[in-house]
Amino acid sequence: MKLYNYNWSTKIVLTTAFLLGAAQTQAAKVLKLSHNQGPEVPVHHAMKYFADKVKEYTDGELVVRIYTNGQLGTQRESVELAQNGTLAFAKTNASELEAFEPLYGVLNLPYIFKSRAHYYEVLTSDVGEEILDASKDKGLVGITYYDGGSRSFYAKKAIKTPADLKDLKIRVQPSPTAVRMVELLGGNPTPISWGELYTALQQGVVDAAENNESALTDARHGEICKFYSRDEHTMIPDVLVMSKAIWEGLTEKQQVAIKKAGKESMLKQKTLWAERAEEAAQKAQEKLGVTFVDVDKNSFIEKVKPMHDEAAKTSEEMAKLIDKIKAM
Ligand code: GCU
Repeated sequence: MKLYNYNWSTKIVLTTAFLLGAAQTQAAKVLKLSHNQGPEVPVHHAMKYFADKVKEYTDGELVVRIYTNGQLGTQRESVELAQNGTLAFAKTNASELEAFEPLYGVLNLPYIFKSRAHYYEVLTSDVGEEILDASKDKGLVGITYYDGGSRSFYAKKAIKTPADLKDLKIRVQPSPTAVRMVELLGGNPTPISWGELYTALQQGVVDAAENNESALTDARHGEICKFYSRDEHTMIPDVLVMSKAIWEGLTEKQQVAIKKAGKESMLKQKTLWAERAEEAAQKAQEKLGVTFVDVDKNSFIEKVKPMHDEAAKTSEEMAKLIDKIKAM
């Protein structure tokens, strides 16, 4: 009888332990991440790496699930969903974020970075962190930056100097800095969301766009625009932001894990991006017949020169950031 009782209590203990274990596994929190690109782009791979690291560093407590191609909404909508706590993460970029927190605009200024090394120095410095932190009071915790290469104009014709942009409708992101830049260069800025751009180019709603080389191949814009004019006006980083409401519901250990995973995935993207930009340029030329045009870069620099001073006048913080970036 005793033995029987013992067996029963052991069973109860074991069953309770099993149920608790199962409950713990089930308690893994799923964090949704939305972005507007396909699964082939380097930043998607960098974010998969981020997801793996988050899982590893939190011992499986947090699981990041990535949704591609704007399935959960356009880039702007995703940022709004993160802002109101419906979505955990949005991968966006500094252009889109300018409407939420003006300080991101400093990263969107044309010719603010002297080189790729300077760009990385800024992004990984206190300045980079200060900008990521700035959107907290808007409900968005900046986690990390991802390399987005440099952006140049592409169209059905070569754009060698700003004069070639005259009367062209140029698709820009919804960023006041991008709008101002195209105005100063003499074109007509037309904000359109990324997901609608292929059709807009195809149907002639816009005549030109501007982005990195992978837009030609991964987004197939090179099927329509056969000239990529390398004026390299901006280097706008992608940014991974997290919902502040969800961030605050995490333990400190989980927050540290997310930041650490973010930093590591940024470095992953650095290598992935360098390979991809080269590959995309080659593929665009060889497979899609896109001509890469060397431009008179100084003529572009001259036209947009007033923008650094104009931006410095918008706020004291902005002026300080510009000075710090230039001093690096
Ligand atoms: C880049 C960037 C996207 C952005 C896109 C655009 O590809 O990675 O986040 O949406 O530019 O021009 O809209």
